[in-house]
Amino acid sequence: MSAGSPLTVCSHEIELSHDSNSFDMTDSEGGMEPVRLGLIGGGLISAKHIEASRQIGSGRLVALCDINPQRKVLADELGIPFFTDYREMISQAGLEGVIDGSPNQFHAEIGIACAKKNIHVLTEKPIAASLKEGKRLVEAVEQSGISLLVGHHRRYFPPIRRAREIVRGGDVGRLVGVSMVWALMKPDSYFEVAWRSRKGGGPILINIIHEIDNLRFICGDVAEIGARAGNLVRDGEVEDTVAFHFRLVDGALGTALVTDTAPSPWSYELTSGENRDYFETDQDCYFFLGTEGSLSFPNMEVWSHPHGRQKGWWEPLMRRSEEVPWSSPFTAQLDHFCKVIRQQDEPIITAADGLLTLATTLAINESSVTGRSVNPLELLENS
Ligand SMILES: NC(=O)c1ccc[n+]([C@@H]2O[C@H](COP(=O)([O-])OP(=O)(O)OC[C@H]3O[C@@H](n4cnc5c(N)ncnc54)[C@H](O)[C@@H]3O)[C@@H](O)[C@H]2O)c1
Repeated sequence: MSAGSPLTVCSHEIELSHDSNSFDMTDSEGGMEPVRLGLIGGGLISAKHIEASRQIGSGRLVALCDINPQRKVLADELGIPFFTDYREMISQAGLEGVIDGSPNQFHAEIGIACAKKNIHVLTEKPIAASLKEGKRLVEAVEQSGISLLVGHHRRYFPPIRRAREIVRGGDVGRLVGVSMVWALMKPDSYFEVAWRSRKGGGPILINIIHEIDNLRFICGDVAEIGARAGNLVRDGEVEDTVAFHFRLVDGALGTALVTDTAPSPWSYELTSGENRDYFETDQDCYFFLGTEGSLSFPNMEVWSHPHGRQKGWWEPLMRRSEEVPWSSPFTAQLDHFCKVIRQQDEPIITAADGLLTLATTLAINESSVTGRSVNPLELLENS
């Protein structure tokens, strides 16, 4: 993709079935052969992918690669060959798909190498360590015809999918505003890992990229973003608190407050129940406001006036809430990846879409440094 060329972003076009709270994982549709998958990186996030691979029938892990030879133990446990060089793995293991769970700086290089070999990729977020690298990767993917999915796994979490359906399905009318809070306390031990206190290691790039992808997935693209970031409590190079405001392409306005230095019940991690390692509260972290009503997430309460009744601040409001059943987004993500490879599913995220999530996230950084509002697409095109 050359600078200035339009991006193909698919999130607007995704059609969700009426009952999209779960993916069809029942069988491999007519006895499809499990997709042959290789995993790169045997660290923290890869444990989730390994667990997911045990739950699906549509694919199976057939090789593991990690530059750390001690990770061979993991391959031995799985009974699959182990490689310390991903190039050897993608040349020798007869792979149809690669799950890339390596650190950010390798995502572009690995994705490009797989594209050259026509191997589909599910790469962890962010799509690349920089917009420049991300653009090179998107170009290689588009030339090759492979699918590269970015691991924004929350898109597969049923309450997120339901929120998208409610907001886009018109239950709240025309969206006018969004309010998001991501506030929690990271323990001191978290910062014993040196890179987390250095540039790029703060909550914007590590955590808020997930919030931005949720926002884009549920509501649509961001046209403009303005931010202030502060290092209010911790010494170090990175922000601990950020406030930003945004305008969506469709016109709705929004605000977000972010801090990793305040004990609070209001964050996706502590409210959504997606990852059961976190303490769970019964609070909300997002509010979506429209001309016909409002939705709180993850409690999924829709507030509106009864149908046919007058609207106004003296009129009674009705509250409707729904239970959305839990299922693992990592399992659904991997099953989807395999079905995309078998051309049984349309990708719910493309490489270009993942790149726009990265650009929108980096726009927060850019605005906090320059003090000016930033258009994510322009930031991407000028990178
Ligand atoms: N989706 C999510 O919620 C989520 C959560 C955590 C991490 N991540 C992403 O996953 C990626 C990995 O993060 P992590 O926390 O698992 O890191 P980690 O450090 O726990 O694991 C990374 C592994 O990759 C190996 N590795 C490093 N360079 C390699 C290379 N060139 N080839 C093969 N193996 C290599 C390391 O030895 C290590 O075992 C990052 O991009 C991160 O942003 C995503």
